[in-house]
Amino acid sequence: MPPEQKNAIVTGGGSGIGRACSLQLARDGIAVAVWDLNPEGAEETVTMIEKEGGRGIACVGDAAETRKIAESLARTHSELGPVTILVNNAGITGFCSFTEIDEDAWDRMIRVNLKGPFLCTQAVIGDMLEAGWGRIINISSSSTQSGAPVMAHYVASKGGVVGFTKALAMEYAAVGITVNTIPPGFVDTPMLRGSPVDIEAQAAQAPMKRPGRPEDIAAACSYLASEAAGYVTGQTLSVNGGRYLV
Ligand SMILES: NC(=O)c1ccc[n+]([C@@H]2O[C@H](COP(=O)([O-])OP(=O)(O)OC[C@H]3O[C@@H](n4cnc5c(N)ncnc54)[C@H](O)[C@@H]3O)[C@@H](O)[C@H]2O)c1
Repeated sequence: MPPEQKNAIVTGGGSGIGRACSLQLARDGIAVAVWDLNPEGAEETVTMIEKEGGRGIACVGDAAETRKIAESLARTHSELGPVTILVNNAGITGFCSFTEIDEDAWDRMIRVNLKGPFLCTQAVIGDMLEAGWGRIINISSSSTQSGAPVMAHYVASKGGVVGFTKALAMEYAAVGITVNTIPPGFVDTPMLRGSPVDIEAQAAQAPMKRPGRPEDIAAACSYLASEAAGYVTGQTLSVNGGRYLV
Protein backbone atom coordinates (compact mmCIF):
# COMPACT_ATOMS: atom_id res chain seq x y z
CA MET A 1 0.00 0.00 0.00
CA PRO A 2 1.32 3.48 -0.83
CA PRO A 3 1.80 5.84 2.10
CA GLU A 4 -1.09 8.25 2.71
CA GLN A 5 1.20 11.29 2.50
CA LYS A 6 3.83 10.96 -0.20
CA ASN A 7 7.03 12.99 0.00
CA ALA A 8 9.55 13.30 -2.81
CA ILE A 9 13.09 14.54 -3.22
CA VAL A 10 14.04 15.99 -6.59
CA THR A 11 17.78 16.62 -6.89
CA GLY A 12 18.68 19.48 -9.19
CA GLY A 13 15.09 20.71 -8.79
CA GLY A 14 16.13 24.34 -9.10
CA SER A 15 16.21 24.41 -12.91
CA GLY A 16 15.05 22.82 -16.15
CA ILE A 17 13.86 19.22 -15.98
CA GLY A 18 14.15 18.98 -12.19
CA ARG A 19 11.99 22.07 -11.74
CA ALA A 20 9.31 20.72 -14.08
CA CYS A 21 9.35 17.35 -12.25
CA SER A 22 9.06 19.13 -8.89
CA LEU A 23 6.08 21.18 -10.09
CA GLN A 24 4.33 18.16 -11.60
CA LEU A 25 4.81 15.97 -8.53
CA ALA A 26 3.45 18.79 -6.35
CA ARG A 27 0.41 19.02 -8.65
CA ASP A 28 -0.01 15.28 -8.07
CA GLY A 29 -0.41 16.01 -4.35
CA ILE A 30 3.13 15.07 -3.33
CA ALA A 31 5.19 17.27 -0.98
CA VAL A 32 8.51 18.01 -2.68
CA ALA A 33 11.95 18.67 -1.23
CA VAL A 34 13.86 20.55 -3.90
CA TRP A 35 17.55 19.78 -3.47
CA ASP A 36 19.90 21.97 -5.47
CA LEU A 37 23.32 23.57 -5.31
CA ASN A 38 21.81 26.83 -6.44
CA PRO A 39 19.87 28.55 -3.64
CA GLU A 40 18.00 31.00 -5.89
CA GLY A 41 16.87 28.25 -8.26
CA ALA A 42 15.70 26.00 -5.44
CA GLU A 43 13.78 28.82 -3.72
CA GLU A 44 12.21 29.89 -7.00
CA THR A 45 10.91 26.36 -7.62
CA VAL A 46 9.41 26.25 -4.12
CA THR A 47 7.74 29.63 -4.68
CA MET A 48 6.25 28.28 -7.92
CA ILE A 49 4.97 25.17 -6.12
CA GLU A 50 3.43 27.26 -3.34
CA LYS A 51 1.78 29.63 -5.82
CA GLU A 52 -0.07 26.64 -7.23
CA GLY A 53 -1.16 25.57 -3.72
CA GLY A 54 1.40 22.76 -3.35
CA ARG A 55 3.91 22.02 -0.62
CA GLY A 56 7.66 22.25 -1.07
CA ILE A 57 10.89 23.01 0.75
CA ALA A 58 14.27 24.05 -0.62
CA CYS A 59 17.43 22.29 0.58
CA VAL A 60 20.63 23.83 -0.69
CA GLY A 61 23.68 21.64 -1.10
CA ASP A 62 25.72 19.28 -3.19
CA ALA A 63 23.68 16.15 -3.92
CA ALA A 64 26.92 14.22 -4.42
CA GLU A 65 28.40 14.97 -1.01
CA THR A 66 27.66 12.62 1.87
CA ARG A 67 27.59 15.23 4.65
CA LYS A 68 25.36 17.63 2.67
CA ILE A 69 23.02 14.80 1.74
CA ALA A 70 22.68 13.87 5.41
CA GLU A 71 21.94 17.51 6.33
CA SER A 72 19.36 17.92 3.55
CA LEU A 73 17.73 14.62 4.45
CA ALA A 74 17.52 15.55 8.14
CA ARG A 75 15.72 18.78 7.16
CA THR A 76 13.46 16.94 4.74
CA HIS A 77 12.54 14.43 7.45
CA SER A 78 11.81 17.06 10.06
CA GLU A 79 9.75 19.29 7.73
CA LEU A 80 8.02 16.73 5.50
CA GLY A 81 8.56 13.23 6.95
CA PRO A 82 9.80 10.00 5.35
CA VAL A 83 10.61 10.05 1.64
CA THR A 84 9.18 7.42 -0.69
CA ILE A 85 9.87 9.07 -4.07
CA LEU A 86 13.36 10.01 -5.24
CA VAL A 87 14.13 11.69 -8.54
CA ASN A 88 17.88 11.55 -9.15
CA ASN A 89 18.05 14.39 -11.65
CA ALA A 90 20.99 16.64 -10.68
CA GLY A 91 23.64 16.49 -13.33
CA ILE A 92 26.39 18.30 -15.14
CA THR A 93 27.47 18.05 -18.74
CA GLY A 94 30.72 18.57 -20.61
CA PHE A 95 32.06 18.72 -24.13
CA CYS A 96 35.68 17.78 -24.67
CA SER A 97 37.55 15.65 -27.15
CA PHE A 98 38.48 12.30 -25.67
CA THR A 99 42.24 12.91 -25.50
CA GLU A 100 41.66 16.23 -23.70
CA ILE A 101 39.50 14.79 -20.90
CA ASP A 102 41.76 14.95 -17.87
CA GLU A 103 41.41 12.91 -14.73
CA ASP A 104 39.78 15.74 -12.79
CA ALA A 105 37.09 16.27 -15.42
CA TRP A 106 36.42 12.52 -15.54
CA ASP A 107 36.19 12.27 -11.74
CA ARG A 108 33.93 15.34 -11.47
CA MET A 109 31.51 13.94 -14.05
CA ILE A 110 31.33 10.52 -12.42
CA ARG A 111 31.02 12.07 -8.96
CA VAL A 112 28.04 14.30 -9.75
CA ASN A 113 26.21 12.16 -12.31
CA LEU A 114 26.75 8.65 -10.93
CA LYS A 115 28.03 8.77 -7.37
CA GLY A 116 25.38 11.40 -6.51
CA PRO A 117 22.47 9.07 -7.38
CA PHE A 118 24.21 6.23 -5.51
CA LEU A 119 24.63 8.31 -2.35
CA CYS A 120 21.14 9.86 -2.46
CA THR A 121 19.49 6.49 -3.06
CA GLN A 122 21.43 4.84 -0.27
CA ALA A 123 20.42 7.66 2.07
CA VAL A 124 16.71 7.39 1.25
CA ILE A 125 16.16 3.66 0.62
CA GLY A 126 15.56 2.97 4.34
CA ASP A 127 12.39 5.12 4.26
CA MET A 128 11.09 3.17 1.28
CA LEU A 129 11.89 -0.20 2.84
CA GLU A 130 10.07 0.83 5.99
CA ALA A 131 7.05 1.96 3.97
CA GLY A 132 7.13 -1.15 1.76
CA TRP A 133 6.64 1.24 -1.15
CA GLY A 134 8.98 3.40 -3.18
CA ARG A 135 9.65 5.01 -6.51
CA ILE A 136 13.16 5.81 -7.75
CA ILE A 137 13.40 7.68 -11.04
CA ASN A 138 16.86 8.23 -12.45
CA ILE A 139 17.36 10.83 -15.14
CA SER A 140 19.98 9.46 -17.53
CA SER A 141 20.48 10.62 -21.13
CA SER A 142 19.56 9.59 -24.65
CA SER A 143 23.29 9.82 -25.40
CA THR A 144 23.56 6.38 -23.78
CA GLN A 145 21.38 5.12 -26.65
CA SER A 146 22.83 7.15 -29.51
CA GLY A 147 26.43 7.66 -28.41
CA ALA A 148 27.81 11.18 -28.62
CA PRO A 149 31.19 12.56 -29.70
CA VAL A 150 33.26 14.70 -27.32
CA MET A 151 31.18 13.52 -24.36
CA ALA A 152 32.86 10.24 -23.36
CA HIS A 153 32.94 11.17 -19.66
CA TYR A 154 29.31 12.33 -19.67
CA VAL A 155 27.98 9.35 -21.61
CA ALA A 156 29.96 6.93 -19.42
CA SER A 157 28.48 8.50 -16.28
CA LYS A 158 24.93 8.27 -17.66
CA GLY A 159 25.51 4.72 -18.91
CA GLY A 160 26.39 3.94 -15.31
CA VAL A 161 23.04 5.40 -14.24
CA VAL A 162 21.22 3.03 -16.63
CA GLY A 163 23.07 0.01 -15.21
CA PHE A 164 22.49 1.23 -11.65
CA THR A 165 18.76 1.48 -12.42
CA LYS A 166 18.53 -2.10 -13.66
CA ALA A 167 20.55 -3.53 -10.77
CA LEU A 168 18.48 -1.75 -8.12
CA ALA A 169 15.23 -2.65 -9.85
CA MET A 170 16.08 -6.35 -9.46
CA GLU A 171 17.29 -5.95 -5.88
CA TYR A 172 14.08 -4.26 -4.71
CA ALA A 173 11.36 -5.62 -7.02
CA ALA A 174 9.93 -7.91 -4.36
CA VAL A 175 9.54 -5.21 -1.71
CA GLY A 176 7.36 -2.66 -3.47
CA ILE A 177 10.10 -0.34 -4.74
CA THR A 178 10.33 0.37 -8.45
CA VAL A 179 13.40 1.83 -10.14
CA ASN A 180 13.26 3.25 -13.66
CA THR A 181 15.16 5.66 -15.85
CA ILE A 182 14.13 8.43 -18.21
CA PRO A 183 16.82 9.30 -20.77
CA PRO A 184 16.10 12.82 -22.00
CA GLY A 185 17.64 14.09 -25.18
CA PHE A 186 17.47 17.57 -26.61
CA VAL A 187 15.25 19.15 -23.95
CA ASP A 188 15.09 22.93 -23.92
CA THR A 189 16.66 23.83 -20.54
CA PRO A 190 19.47 26.11 -19.38
CA MET A 191 21.81 23.11 -19.76
CA LEU A 192 20.96 22.70 -23.44
CA ARG A 193 21.01 26.46 -24.04
CA GLY A 194 24.53 26.58 -22.54
CA SER A 195 25.81 23.77 -24.78
CA PRO A 196 27.25 23.94 -28.31
CA VAL A 197 24.06 22.31 -29.67
CA ASP A 198 22.40 24.33 -32.44
CA ILE A 199 18.83 24.06 -31.18
CA GLU A 200 17.08 25.40 -34.28
CA ALA A 201 19.10 23.19 -36.66
CA GLN A 202 18.47 20.06 -34.58
CA ALA A 203 14.78 20.88 -34.23
CA ALA A 204 14.49 21.10 -38.02
CA GLN A 205 15.88 17.52 -38.25
CA ALA A 206 13.70 16.12 -35.45
CA PRO A 207 10.56 14.07 -36.26
CA MET A 208 8.38 16.46 -34.26
CA LYS A 209 10.27 19.56 -35.45
CA ARG A 210 10.79 20.84 -31.93
CA PRO A 211 13.02 20.27 -28.93
CA GLY A 212 11.63 18.46 -25.89
CA ARG A 213 10.15 20.54 -23.12
CA PRO A 214 10.92 19.94 -19.44
CA GLU A 215 7.18 19.24 -19.02
CA ASP A 216 7.48 16.28 -21.43
CA ILE A 217 9.93 14.63 -19.04
CA ALA A 218 7.90 15.66 -15.99
CA ALA A 219 4.83 13.86 -17.36
CA ALA A 220 6.81 10.61 -17.59
CA CYS A 221 8.20 11.19 -14.10
CA SER A 222 4.67 11.68 -12.77
CA TYR A 223 3.59 8.38 -14.34
CA LEU A 224 6.58 6.43 -13.00
CA ALA A 225 5.95 7.87 -9.52
CA SER A 226 2.28 6.91 -9.63
CA GLU A 227 0.41 3.90 -8.33
CA ALA A 228 -0.48 3.05 -11.94
CA ALA A 229 3.19 2.32 -12.71
CA GLY A 230 3.51 -0.23 -9.89
CA TYR A 231 4.31 -3.12 -12.30
CA VAL A 232 6.91 -1.11 -14.24
CA THR A 233 10.47 -1.53 -13.04
CA GLY A 234 13.98 -1.63 -14.48
CA GLN A 235 12.72 0.13 -17.58
CA THR A 236 14.03 2.92 -19.76
CA LEU A 237 11.16 5.22 -20.67
CA SER A 238 12.42 7.16 -23.68
CA VAL A 239 10.76 10.57 -24.00
CA ASN A 240 12.39 11.97 -27.10
CA GLY A 241 9.79 12.88 -29.72
CA GLY A 242 10.80 9.85 -31.78
CA ARG A 243 14.43 10.94 -32.19
CA TYR A 244 15.71 7.48 -31.20
CA LEU A 245 13.74 4.29 -31.58
CA VAL A 246 15.45 1.74 -29.37
N1 LIG B 1 18.44 19.11 -21.30
C1 LIG B 1 18.72 18.03 -21.99
O1 LIG B 1 18.57 18.00 -23.22
C2 LIG B 1 19.22 16.79 -21.30
C3 LIG B 1 19.59 15.72 -22.13
C4 LIG B 1 20.04 14.56 -21.54
C5 LIG B 1 20.11 14.45 -20.15
N2 LIG B 1 19.77 15.51 -19.38
C6 LIG B 1 19.89 15.34 -17.93
O2 LIG B 1 18.76 15.87 -17.27
C7 LIG B 1 19.14 16.35 -15.96
C8 LIG B 1 18.64 17.77 -15.79
O3 LIG B 1 19.23 18.58 -16.79
P1 LIG B 1 18.70 20.04 -17.22
O4 LIG B 1 18.81 20.09 -18.67
O5 LIG B 1 17.44 20.33 -16.52
O6 LIG B 1 19.91 20.89 -16.61
P2 LIG B 1 19.97 22.29 -15.81
O7 LIG B 1 21.40 22.67 -15.85
O8 LIG B 1 18.94 23.22 -16.32
O9 LIG B 1 19.57 21.85 -14.33
C9 LIG B 1 20.42 21.06 -13.56
C10 LIG B 1 20.23 21.45 -12.09
O10 LIG B 1 21.05 20.57 -11.32
C11 LIG B 1 21.72 21.34 -10.33
N3 LIG B 1 22.93 20.62 -9.92
C12 LIG B 1 24.03 20.37 -10.67
N4 LIG B 1 24.94 19.71 -9.93
C13 LIG B 1 24.40 19.53 -8.70
C14 LIG B 1 24.85 18.92 -7.50
N5 LIG B 1 26.05 18.35 -7.41
N6 LIG B 1 24.02 18.94 -6.42
C15 LIG B 1 22.81 19.52 -6.49
N7 LIG B 1 22.33 20.12 -7.60
C16 LIG B 1 23.12 20.12 -8.68
C17 LIG B 1 22.01 22.67 -10.99
O11 LIG B 1 22.25 23.69 -10.02
C18 LIG B 1 20.72 22.89 -11.78
O12 LIG B 1 19.76 23.57 -11.02
C19 LIG B 1 20.66 16.20 -15.89
O13 LIG B 1 21.00 15.03 -15.20
C20 LIG B 1 21.07 16.09 -17.34
O14 LIG B 1 22.27 15.40 -17.52
C21 LIG B 1 19.34 16.67 -19.93
